[in-house]
Amino acid sequence: MSAGHVFIATSLDGFIAREDGDIAWLLARDDPDEDHGFDAFIAGMGAMVMGAGTWLSVRDLDPWPYPVPVLVLSRRLAGTRPPDRLAGKVRFADLSPQAAMDLCTAEGAKRVYVDGGQVIRSFLNAGLIDEIILTQVPVLLGRGLPLFGPVAQDIGLELLSSRAFPSGLVQSHYRIAR
Ligand SMILES: NC(=O)c1ccc[n+]([C@@H]2O[C@H](COP(=O)([O-])OP(=O)(O)OC[C@H]3O[C@@H](n4cnc5c(N)ncnc54)[C@H](OP(=O)(O)O)[C@@H]3O)[C@@H](O)[C@H]2O)c1
Repeated sequence: MSAGHVFIATSLDGFIAREDGDIAWLLARDDPDEDHGFDAFIAGMGAMVMGAGTWLSVRDLDPWPYPVPVLVLSRRLAGTRPPDRLAGKVRFADLSPQAAMDLCTAEGAKRVYVDGGQVIRSFLNAGLIDEIILTQVPVLLGRGLPLFGPVAQDIGLELLSSRAFPSGLVQSHYRIAR
């Protein structure tokens, strides 16, 4: 069975983007001299599942930053094809979290990078996330797109490690307690 893994950054007040999707506040704090561990993280993943909102923010990235097959969950885009340059790298599908994970399992991916606020929340509520690596940026946005939201029941987490970077970013590595 595949397991979901989250690697994401938030403002100190818990937002992944401004309401209009802007993440300039995050990119401005991305010190190229600091290794925040993304390359090591993605090297351990067999697939990625992201929401349509995240797809919109990454679809024009060149070079394409994800070395694993990407499944974009979207009711609107399901049945359409990605741009030619991403053929074979990106698929669109309208699937429940469980069905998306079952597909990843069938295709042999043990560890699945799950990205996008709404999608992460739906996977968390379905019990499909094993690990969260959360990088907090020392800025208060006041409003924006949240990472976390309502949960069906408490979700306990075990803190595996935490580290502070000279830039002020604080990265905490959690495992979901079962
Ligand atoms: N700070 C960070 O590290 C970070 C990381 C990732 C993303 N972001 C930012 O976050 C924003 C996107 O996040 P988001 O929370 O708005 O959206 P999201 O989770 O990326 O996408 C949500 C959309 O995915 C579709 N969807 C299909 N199946 C779903 C399911 N099972 N559960 C939930 N959604 C499903 C729906 O679109 P349809 O109507 O097409 O079905 C839904 O509106 C972007 O601005 C991006 O830049 C930031």
